[in-house]
Amino acid sequence: MRMYDIIMKKRNGQELSREEIQFFVEGYTRGEIPDYQASALMMAIYFRKMTEQETLALTMAMADSGERLNLSAIHGVKVDKHSTGGVGDKTSLALTPMAAACGIPVAKMSGRGLGHTGGTIDKLESFPGFTTALTTEQFIENVNRVGIAIMGQTADLAPADKKLYALRDVTATVDNLSLIASSIMSKKLAAGADAIVLDVKTGSGAFMKQEQDARALAEEMVKIGRNAGRKTIAVISDMDQPLGYAVGNALEVREAIDTLQGRGPADFLELCLALGSQMLIAGGKAADCREAEEKLKGVIADGSALRKLAEFVAAQGGDSSVVYQPELLPKAAFVYPVEAPRSGYVSHIVCDEVGMCSLMLGGGRETKDSVIDLSVGIVLCRKAGDYVRAGEPLAYIHANDEKRAKEAGERYLAACTISPTAPAGTQLIKDVVG
Ligand code: URA
Repeated sequence: MRMYDIIMKKRNGQELSREEIQFFVEGYTRGEIPDYQASALMMAIYFRKMTEQETLALTMAMADSGERLNLSAIHGVKVDKHSTGGVGDKTSLALTPMAAACGIPVAKMSGRGLGHTGGTIDKLESFPGFTTALTTEQFIENVNRVGIAIMGQTADLAPADKKLYALRDVTATVDNLSLIASSIMSKKLAAGADAIVLDVKTGSGAFMKQEQDARALAEEMVKIGRNAGRKTIAVISDMDQPLGYAVGNALEVREAIDTLQGRGPADFLELCLALGSQMLIAGGKAADCREAEEKLKGVIADGSALRKLAEFVAAQGGDSSVVYQPELLPKAAFVYPVEAPRSGYVSHIVCDEVGMCSLMLGGGRETKDSVIDLSVGIVLCRKAGDYVRAGEPLAYIHANDEKRAKEAGERYLAACTISPTAPAGTQLIKDVVG
């Protein structure tokens, strides 16, 4: 087989065989196929697209390019959850202890974020001492003993995807449906869960801005998961404004704790219940959404989800007293209000701009080596549809640098539209696929 022929075949719009895709993935992972040929193939795929069979073959080849995690020593149906990412998305922080308190074993591999805030791991590091540097044995032992463990993605998890994603990032070939779906699903399949619940976001703060694109991605990933023999469900949810009120690492941890104490924002709780219901049903802990929601609300009401978070934090070396005293979380030196210039309804908040405000305050990574400031971020006071009077705060900026705080405040203001009439309401949960 020759890489030249594979590129030409795809360039001419023909379907690649499983063997050809495997040849490419294996050769590229080993460094035998150069970046320029891999780039040419990615561009050919970008324009010619991939069939369902090709997408599955690419996913499986990437999932098999490193070591697959063997979770068979964990008792029960392991259900993984993945979000395509958004602004203020702290769902894993609240949802994993809720699911674990309902009896779902949560064995999760997470990444650090490159973007407006950190990833789940960065956020969890707001608990002093918390570590995700677990061996596979510790990881499995913790899931069996505590019900949850989260570890960093190992270098050997789908290494072909790691290399290809980096290449796509610099060759304008990220936004192809088959390539995105196979990239996400290869990591999920290699991470070993029996069932996968996907949260596919849509709106101005999401990767997929248009709902029809989010739906197509959700359908593609569900097909891959099912073809690979895993129960897979995707929830399509709104990301046209930040989720909840808090954006920023420690601020989001606090909001997740508030939610587990029964004082969380309505939209965030709604999403946790929708995703959690799918996790409980997939894991055989509830027959339908109604029963699942009751159980999930029950573990918030009786405090067991909050205790589960504390147990999990302690099991991974973190100071669990912070769960009960969130005022001990990292705090920024200054808190400034962003005041509404006039009265009216907040009709739109450009969501990814709010993410950019958090990034410029130091809450996210511009490059993979940037150091995150866990304490900074934005806490919204008004969301789309809310009325505000001139001079009242639209949001509070939490900052450690006055100049950056001022710039972030101006940017936040520019991201908000205030109108004389109330906007039409939007639905948080758009659909469930699968
Ligand atoms: N996230 C991934 O992991 N891969 C993609 O291709 C896009 C988003």
